[in-house]
Amino acid sequence: MADTQKLTIFYMFIIVGSFSISNATFISEHARMYVDASLFMFRNCRFEKIYQFGDSMSDTGNIVIENKKKEASNRLPYGETFFGRPTGRNSNGLLMIDYIAWAAGLNLLNPFNDKTANFDDGVNFAVAGSTATAVEKLAAQHINGNITTSSSLGVQVDWMEEYLVKFCKGDEDCGDKLKNSLFIVGETGGNDYNFALMARKTIDKIKADVVPEVVETIINGTKRLINRGARKLMVPGNFPVGCLPIYLTLFQTKNSTFDENGCLKEYNELSMYHNMKLKEALDILQDEAPYTTIIYGDYYNAYEWVYTHAAELGFKSKQKACCGIGGKYNVGFGKLCGDPGVPVCPNPNNHLNWDGVHPTQQTNMFLATWLITNMLPKLDCY
Ligand SMILES: *[C@@H]1O[C@H](CO)[C@@H](O)[C@H](O)[C@H]1NC(C)=O
Ligand SMILES: *[C@@H]1O[C@H](CO)[C@@H](O)[C@H](O)[C@H]1NC(C)=O
Ligand SMILES: *[C@@H]1O[C@H](CO)[C@@H](O)[C@H](O)[C@H]1NC(C)=O
Repeated sequence: MADTQKLTIFYMFIIVGSFSISNATFISEHARMYVDASLFMFRNCRFEKIYQFGDSMSDTGNIVIENKKKEASNRLPYGETFFGRPTGRNSNGLLMIDYIAWAAGLNLLNPFNDKTANFDDGVNFAVAGSTATAVEKLAAQHINGNITTSSSLGVQVDWMEEYLVKFCKGDEDCGDKLKNSLFIVGETGGNDYNFALMARKTIDKIKADVVPEVVETIINGTKRLINRGARKLMVPGNFPVGCLPIYLTLFQTKNSTFDENGCLKEYNELSMYHNMKLKEALDILQDEAPYTTIIYGDYYNAYEWVYTHAAELGFKSKQKACCGIGGKYNVGFGKLCGDPGVPVCPNPNNHLNWDGVHPTQQTNMFLATWLITNMLPKLDCY
């Protein structure tokens, strides 16, 4: 194992230990002694605010304001573990962004659509179900079934502009007020691929036609934020979607091939392809804007780390959704988590996956911890 990798894992255990809700008893006392120092390092970035863009992996309540009745995340058992009520988060409790905000010493971010909310610590513009690409552009590629919101990344950046009208005046003032904030642009694009696959596009066709459009859209959104004054940005890639219970249920065939983790190989390769193209484009953007810090958020390896260490991290099930019914993976059609009569597992901390798609709170905690430790050295917060 490479030294940097060891160091990452070491720091990971340290920070994990500092989230008091962690029941990860395998963390040694010795490691715990360093908890305060490590958290201090991330807090030392002194982010004034965090601005989050993206989809259901990050939405803390926008979609349920936009679309009150339909959303499962507006019903229990969503939110049961931490909030005791549904908040629009697509998990049993906290999301990655919640842990990242805490680790930065900030409060949880409120959703932009809540016009009465306090935005002192930043704004969450993410919308569950949203795509990176504008819905009209997807429709032009015959990807239009099942899309529930038109609040794509470009629309979310429009909202940011709207917010800036009140928050600051003119380029100089806005630049001053944004330069010490963290912008998290994604994960986004995952839904573009979900919808393309549901519209029966082949993976090869998606790689050729959809990936370039998604990546360019993410870069364009990121550029708009930089033009308005963003200086520290994390742009996450996609998860290994071939490991998700819903993918294993929907897309597994007799001919499927699996990777060493038992995940659908070609679907993970689609995520890797997207991530490779995104990283290439971010490198170019970083060269064009040397006065910014643009960090690739490695969701793929974060997820894979949790997945391969699942047993040590206290998970009993990696591939069965905690909330759901039917099939080998607790994912059935027409009956999903949040629907009447759909059971939920007694201890969500034992499950890596919450509802077939989204991680449980416990998984989100480990993912956030991995991401923070991975991001820290690139931020120069010493
Ligand atoms: C909509 O989703 C269902 C599965 O939930 C899928 O069978 C169908 O093909 C999708 N329709 C389109 C047009 O994408
Ligand atoms: C990205 O921005 C450029 C320049 O404004 C524009 O020409 C292009 O169409 C945009 N691409 C996408 C995918 O939105
Ligand atoms: C599996 O592969 C065989 C042979 O290549 C092909 O005829 C068949 O249609 C495939 N089945 C599925 C479900 O993809």
